[in-house]
Amino acid sequence: MYQVGVIGLGHIAAQYSTPEEEAPYCHVGGLRYSNNVELVAVADIAEPARDEFRTVWGKVFPDIRYYGTSTALLESEQIDIVAVCVRGPAHFAVTMEVIQAHPKAIFLEKPPTCSLEEMDIIVAAAKAKNIPITVSYSRHWCPHILQLQELVHNGLIGEVKTVVGYGSGAFLSFVSHVTDLICQFAGYCPETVFARGRVKGDAPQGYEPEPNIEGMIIEFSNGVTGIHIGNEGEHGSFYVDVFGTEGRVQAGMYIPPAAYDKEGHPIDLSQYNMPANASVFQIAYDQIADYLDGGPLPHCTNDAWVAVNEIGFAGIESTLTNRMIELPNANRTRKVFANG
Ligand SMILES: NC(=O)c1ccc[n+]([C@@H]2O[C@H](COP(=O)([O-])OP(=O)(O)OC[C@H]3O[C@@H](n4cnc5c(N)ncnc54)[C@H](O)[C@@H]3O)[C@@H](O)[C@H]2O)c1
Repeated sequence: MYQVGVIGLGHIAAQYSTPEEEAPYCHVGGLRYSNNVELVAVADIAEPARDEFRTVWGKVFPDIRYYGTSTALLESEQIDIVAVCVRGPAHFAVTMEVIQAHPKAIFLEKPPTCSLEEMDIIVAAAKAKNIPITVSYSRHWCPHILQLQELVHNGLIGEVKTVVGYGSGAFLSFVSHVTDLICQFAGYCPETVFARGRVKGDAPQGYEPEPNIEGMIIEFSNGVTGIHIGNEGEHGSFYVDVFGTEGRVQAGMYIPPAAYDKEGHPIDLSQYNMPANASVFQIAYDQIADYLDGGPLPHCTNDAWVAVNEIGFAGIESTLTNRMIELPNANRTRKVFANG
């Protein structure tokens, strides 16, 4: 069992779900159902957050230790996997501190960084210590999406040509989930980005406001085109239509999986053992544990999340300059208040 420590006890760590749910959408809910990892310690600078955690999750995790700072947790515990669940602007300082403590793996919430300069520093520091960083584009690990990814990879719809993503909101803090979903089916090899967006609101000193997406075209080096078209699709947000030479699939956490042949006839997916639902966090932690046992790199790890983050910053750059941006971004210093 790999020992896990969670830093930040807010919504995504513990508050989006309760212990009663079968497929909880929060870190500790997924940890609870994994046979490969166990929660041993948590930290939050806010006492009310620690109190709420104890009230809601205390009976599920009676033996864990509580800390008032990440520093106290990291100094007192031998943690294998550290989950960084503070908000975006705090990611850099906390993640760098975690890297210095040298855990076996880090599970970092999205959006990973507020600038590409921060990303470069984190990536170099983690690489120097051989610590994989997995970023929590969490809907990625929805069981039926993973199965569709595998089926598409194995040729269910021929060669993938275009992936259309549906989602709205801030480039890094929110719609990056859909950017990752596009990459999940297109590949993590983006080359150019052209985007339209809208800047709204202010940002604290030292930051620029984070624009919202209106549309984005991503060219991938394998010839696939990714297109963000906002949330005007038939099912709202958080899904993709994947168009191949032999058919199409529709994949998203909140819609049933669907596939169609070239003529538009539905493909019966029941023949492919579509998996039962489970907590996406359980699956993500299990992938990390499997990697530590000698398995493949977890999804959304290292180069994969770097590609998604490069796309997000390129979308912002393109919005602000009205130009197509080649990746990797030349501008590494733009610092965005990505407070998701
Ligand atoms: N994967 C998803 O679907 C999803 C959904 C929501 C939020 N998120 C991401 O999760 C992160 C947290 O968002 P949230 O909505 O849970 O935030 P939140 O504000 O609900 O919780 C953050 C917690 O971190 C604590 N904190 C802040 N700085 C700290 C520090 N230095 N050390 C220890 N604790 C500290 C705060 O006291 C707070 O309790 C963000 O990056 C956000 O984008 C992801």
